[in-house]
Amino acid sequence: MRLKDRVAIITGGASGIGEGICLCMAKEGSHVVISDINMDFSAKVADKILKMGRKALTVRTDVRKAEDCQNLIKKSLEEMGSLDILVCCSGFPGYSDNTTGEDPTRIENISEDNWNLTIDTNLKGVFLCNRSIAPYFKQKKKGKIINIASIAGRRGADWIPHYSASKAGVIIMSQAIAAQLAPFNVNVNTICPGFIWTPMSLTSGKMMAKLYPQFNNMNPVEVFDEVVRTKVPLGRPQTPEAIGNLAVFLASDEANEITGQAINVDGGAVFS
Ligand SMILES: NC(=O)c1ccc[n+]([C@@H]2O[C@H](COP(=O)([O-])OP(=O)(O)OC[C@H]3O[C@@H](n4cnc5c(N)ncnc54)[C@H](O)[C@@H]3O)[C@@H](O)[C@H]2O)c1
Repeated sequence: MRLKDRVAIITGGASGIGEGICLCMAKEGSHVVISDINMDFSAKVADKILKMGRKALTVRTDVRKAEDCQNLIKKSLEEMGSLDILVCCSGFPGYSDNTTGEDPTRIENISEDNWNLTIDTNLKGVFLCNRSIAPYFKQKKKGKIINIASIAGRRGADWIPHYSASKAGVIIMSQAIAAQLAPFNVNVNTICPGFIWTPMSLTSGKMMAKLYPQFNNMNPVEVFDEVVRTKVPLGRPQTPEAIGNLAVFLASDEANEITGQAINVDGGAVFS
């Protein structure tokens, strides 16, 4: 087991990719802190981890709030005794199911509310969690931080300019933090997922079906399948486990020499 008795915090750990990362970490021997705003889903993930024989803790955290992020580290340390890994995976897709109005994806129509929610969750949330754990990892002279961005942060995606901006911000900010923390033996890397079917993809699929003629009359699963068919050279969607496997590697001693990198897990959709 590559992470035996390590302790990992996963923000956004209650659902989708975050849940996949929690389970992959636990499979490799790590105890897991599930940090999310959705406590019902967090409890279900915690149950699965306990059944695998690991410790699990749930901490309600709104990553947009500094005091919640500070409390996350404090509570995790109190309950678990030490911390080794932070994965920042909470995210907002850019639009909610009730986003309305004339093509809300065009730059002239993107609301400030959606901008704020996207940047605050996806970028400020990563900043606040990285900021909260940095003093502990610096003093410990060891730690692994893995921030989850997106291939939309590699190349601006037409229908989500604000989401793309938030994810590009995560990639570049992580490089800067990696440079700051390298002298303290703390590794900071970014994973850029491609196309994974999660509640987030459901929201995106509904929006695309409404807006784009090529997806008219399709349900969100069909939209997702069509996007994968046309955008992914390997011709298949990625899975939460595929992201979790890379997160485990980056969190393990095998990746001690890797820092400041952003790695795509996208079936070849973006070559960078
Ligand atoms: N699904 C994909 O294809 C895909 C592709 C690229 C990147 N991503 C990124 O992966 C991450 C996980 O996405 P997912 O697809 O698993 O979505 P998801 O909706 O299944 O999970 C997102 C989680 O974040 C939590 N969350 C939302 N706002 C929060 C807040 N303010 N504070 C704390 N937690 C909050 C939600 O409760 C949820 O549990 C996101 O950062 C997303 O941008 C997803």
